[in-house]
Amino acid sequence: MANRKLSPEEINKAIGYIHQLREKYEGIGQDFILYLEGLVHSNGLNYWDYVKLDSLMGLQTPRTNFPDEMIFVVYHQITELYFKLIKQEIDLLTDLERGEYKELKNWYKRIGRCSNYWKHLCNSFDIMAHGMDISEFKHFRMALLPASGFQSVQFRHIEIMSSNLSSLLHKDNREDMDAPLEKLYQYMYWKSGGIDMDTNNKTLTLRQFEKKYDLELQGWIKDYRYRNLAYLYYRLAPELKNDEKLVHLLREYDQYINIFWRMSHQAASSRHLPIDDRGTGGTNWRKYLPPKFQRVIFFNTIWTDTEKEEWGKAGVMKFFRDRIQGTWMKDERYDGTDQ
Ligand code: HEM
Repeated sequence: MANRKLSPEEINKAIGYIHQLREKYEGIGQDFILYLEGLVHSNGLNYWDYVKLDSLMGLQTPRTNFPDEMIFVVYHQITELYFKLIKQEIDLLTDLERGEYKELKNWYKRIGRCSNYWKHLCNSFDIMAHGMDISEFKHFRMALLPASGFQSVQFRHIEIMSSNLSSLLHKDNREDMDAPLEKLYQYMYWKSGGIDMDTNNKTLTLRQFEKKYDLELQGWIKDYRYRNLAYLYYRLAPELKNDEKLVHLLREYDQYINIFWRMSHQAASSRHLPIDDRGTGGTNWRKYLPPKFQRVIFFNTIWTDTEKEEWGKAGVMKFFRDRIQGTWMKDERYDGTDQ
């Protein structure tokens, strides 16, 4: 094989690549001959090095001996990785210098990809709801306090990248948008999810999160104020903004994160947390998690008043049950109880 003669086309291609390599390395002031020599000596890549398999497998450190805690850790990590991919799509589409947002085809591609990731996350939430024994969860959960998925900063990034600040404030505080950012930030809707239902004080879960991320998140809000998805969408020319496919894709995206994912998550919580139980640190999560209470909607103008009024209520729930939730729960071979 090594002595096989190259065809004229292959020689031409090889010369073309050499020219490109030269341009690339000379463009950054490097000696390209040295880089060519490096190529001759470098080892080929292995799969395990490429995906960093050893590091990846070492990233799970359960805090108890309950085997199902591994499912809990890994599924959270999987979710965070999907969040990373969603953020990458939004970042590329909203990068003002790249200018992708000016063309419909880029909205189709990137919003379509985001919804696809959310779809997978919604469909896989059964792994939390039915894929862990209730009896094990009840025990290992206590060893994880006060940590909560509520502290997922990537989830907040996605919200800030997707919509205007006004849509992310608590629904009773969306009026005075002229107030300084530091003041408005205190009204972020999710802050109401970290309140102890007995004392009305902030939970430790929320206080820890604020200490670590408040400044960073305010920076994100400033950065995305004039380039979040909703901001850019509202400013598209009318013929683009009213494009049927784009509106459809944005409606899908809004529903996936703001209704279906939240409902899947709520379903898992309902299954594992006893009826009278409190969320991490004593939150009244039953009055917080269901989407009909917070009514977070990223793209306000693409929904009718009735649709907004019905956000997360029965009609949407039926759609959710029929179309979105995974099939496992409906599978007769699995009766939904623990072994
Ligand atoms: C059985 C599994 C789960 C249960 C029982 C559960 C429970 C809860 C509860 C009770 C809250 C309200 C805040 C609190 O009291 O801590 C919450 C919030 C949250 N959890 Fe989970 N969770 C589960 C799985 C997950 C997973 C896999 C993720 C993925 C990252 C996640 C992400 C979140 C997020 C982002 C919030 C904030 C939601 C919002 O602000 O609307 N949770 N969770």
